[in-house]
Amino acid sequence: MTVDLRSDTVTRPGASMLDAMMHAKVGDDVFEEDPTVNRLEAFAAEMFGREAAIYCPTGTMSNQIAIKCHTQPGDEVICEKTSHVYLYEGGGIAFNAAAQVKLLDGDRGRVTAAQVKNAINPDDVHKPRTSLVCLENTANRGGGSCYHCTDIMAIKSVCTEAGMALHLDGARLFNALVANHETPEHYGQMFDSISICLNKGLGCPIGSILIGNKKFIRQARRIRKVFGGGMRQAGFMAAAGLYALQHNIKRLELDHIHARQIAMELQQKPFVGNLLPVETNIIIFEVLPPYTPKELVAKFYEYGIKCIAISPTQIRMVTHLDINEQMIKQVINCINSL
Ligand SMILES: Cc1ncc(COP(=O)(O)O)c(C=O)c1O
Repeated sequence: MTVDLRSDTVTRPGASMLDAMMHAKVGDDVFEEDPTVNRLEAFAAEMFGREAAIYCPTGTMSNQIAIKCHTQPGDEVICEKTSHVYLYEGGGIAFNAAAQVKLLDGDRGRVTAAQVKNAINPDDVHKPRTSLVCLENTANRGGGSCYHCTDIMAIKSVCTEAGMALHLDGARLFNALVANHETPEHYGQMFDSISICLNKGLGCPIGSILIGNKKFIRQARRIRKVFGGGMRQAGFMAAAGLYALQHNIKRLELDHIHARQIAMELQQKPFVGNLLPVETNIIIFEVLPPYTPKELVAKFYEYGIKCIAISPTQIRMVTHLDINEQMIKQVINCINSL
């Protein structure tokens, strides 16, 4: 049996999700006439206690639309040095928004209010205008680490005082909410905009939602069209999103349990060095001799287990909807036999 732990993006829609998709009522969403997309957007906005939301094909597009909306060319965006918006969106901040970044050295992907405050440029013609702070929760390269709400609220105060917007890359926000018993409404109050992904832990084939106030989402709709993301009968996909928001959030707790079970076994092994604390569904660990990460990935592959070497020293494993108890046993047996 193949156990694919490379990412939580590898899931396939199950029978109930496919059924919801097949029975979706659709229309032309660029005309804002797709009833299922409209329902999904209203559902997500209400969930977060916000006025509006827009359905996008990918998390990258949601983030990039938000960054474009919140900045002017030449502005500076504060983000953590391992953040997805900086590392993995193809230089989109420069390409799409003509803005530049100021990188902060965080703790497993998370930054503090003091770091943000120190990074704001003074009102000086020589300096770029600092207009936006982007946070990521959970932090992918931080091993699925989560922010404490008190820390986010402190960052929000710094942003409000400096007249800066605060955006959340919440690709895996529901993992954080489930792990820490927090509510989407609270997050809705803390951020100017939030992007959530439907195509990761929630198990949809595609999709992301950007949430904010009416004025912001109106502008986002214009930018989504400019980026080529205006979709037509997208309701078939939006139906998967609605299904996921209604059925696949609570169960994320199981993915977290599975991740902790794998981590506990790894910890016993001499070839495993620093293993980042497992807070949600991501396991990142350092590989020690006799293996290199590439060699260990190949070894796991011989046992039918797929994972990724994410740096010259580290491997990442991610648990998700398509991983069951039997597969976890297979992973544990494999680790024990190495
Ligand atoms: C933290 C984070 N943000 C954004 C994205 C982008 O999502 P997508 O692959 O839908 O563009 C990812 C994807 O892995 C991610 O991990």
